[in-house]
Amino acid sequence: MTEMLLRASNIAIEIAGLELVSNVDLEVDRGHSLGIVGETGSGKSLTCRAFAGLLSPIGGRISSGSLWVGRQDATSPDTHAKAALYGRVVSLVPQNSLMALNPLMRIGTHLTETIKALDADSVVQLKARAIDLLQRVGLPDPERILRQYPHQLSGGMRQRVMIALAIAGRPELLIADEPTTALDVSVQKDILELLRRLTHEENMALILISHDLGVVAAATQSVAVMYAGMVVERGPTDTVLRQPRHPYTQALLKARPTIGHTGRLMGIPGAPASPDTWPSGCRFAPRCPHADNRCDAKVPTLETIGGGHVGACHRLHESLVLDLSKKDLLSS
Ligand SMILES: Nc1ncnc2c1ncn2[C@@H]1O[C@H](COP(=O)(O)OP(=O)(O)O)[C@@H](O)[C@H]1O
Ligand SMILES: [Mg+2]
Repeated sequence: MTEMLLRASNIAIEIAGLELVSNVDLEVDRGHSLGIVGETGSGKSLTCRAFAGLLSPIGGRISSGSLWVGRQDATSPDTHAKAALYGRVVSLVPQNSLMALNPLMRIGTHLTETIKALDADSVVQLKARAIDLLQRVGLPDPERILRQYPHQLSGGMRQRVMIALAIAGRPELLIADEPTTALDVSVQKDILELLRRLTHEENMALILISHDLGVVAAATQSVAVMYAGMVVERGPTDTVLRQPRHPYTQALLKARPTIGHTGRLMGIPGAPASPDTWPSGCRFAPRCPHADNRCDAKVPTLETIGGGHVGACHRLHESLVLDLSKKDLLSS
C-alpha cells in the first residue's frame, strides 16, 4: 500500500497581506518523486518553504487550505515545529544553497552541528556519522573534506555537502530547490543521479524544483507545472511532457532548445503578471494564444483529463495536443 508523506490541499501563501501562491493541491507518496516546474516568480520556492515549515522566517504564512506532512497537521508553523518535522520528516536543500555554507566554518563543523541539533544521542559518534554522511553523498576522502572550508570545494562538492546536511536526520521527504541550476551540465547530471540513488536507497520521497523541464524529465515520476502562483497542470511526467494540455506547459516546451533544433524557438510573449496585478480570470490569459471571453471572466480549476493528469484551463478539452517525445528532452 502506498503511504502518503505530504498532502497540500488548496493552500494559499501570503506575505505582508499579499497572496503570492493560491489553491495549491499536491500529494507525494513514500518513494515517489515529484517535480515542480515554472518560470522564475511562479511560486515554487514559497511552496516548498511552506512544505518545510520555513515560511515564518521570511514573514510568510499559509493563509488558507491545509497541509499534512507525515501523519501530522503541519498547516501552522507552530505545529510543524512542535512535531519536530523539519530535518526528520521533511528536509530542504534551499535555492542558492551553494552560498549557504558559512565560509568561516569547516565542513566537519557544519555536519556535526547539524547532527547534534537533530539527534542528541549521537554526540559520541559525531565524527563517524559525519564521515558516513559524506560517503552516502559520494564524496571521496571524507576525512580530508571534514577539515576543509567551503571555498576549498567545487560547486558540485558543496552541493553534495548541502544534500548531506539535508539527509542528516534521515528525512522521509527531501525537497531540493533548483539543486542543479548553478552547476555545469556534467555536474548537474551527477547531482540528479545522486538524488535518484539516495531516494531509492533511503526510501525517501523527493520533490525536485526546477525551471528546467529537462531536469524534471530526467529525474521525476510526476510533475506539477506552476504559473503565477498556481498549479496549472499536473500528472505523470511522461504524460505531461509528451502530451501537455495546458497552453502554458505547451509554450514552455516550445520555448525549450534541444540539440539539433534548427527552427526558431517560440518564446512566450509578454511577462508574467506580478502578484498585485493578477488578472481576475485565468492568470495566463493575457499571454495565451487560445484565450477567449471565459478566460477573462473566471479562474479555471483543475479538471481531470485521465490517468492522474489534470489541468486548469477553460479550453482543456479542446486545446491542441502536442506530441513531444520525452527523448528529445533527455537528449539535450
Ligand atoms: N520574502 C519575500 N517577500 C516578498 N515577496 C516574496 C518573497 N519571496 C518571494 N516573493 C514573491 O513571491 C512570488 C513567488 O516567488 P518564489 O516562490 O520565489 O518563485 P520561484 O521560486 O518560482 O521563482 C514572486 O512574485 C516573489 O517576488
Ligand atoms: Mg525559486
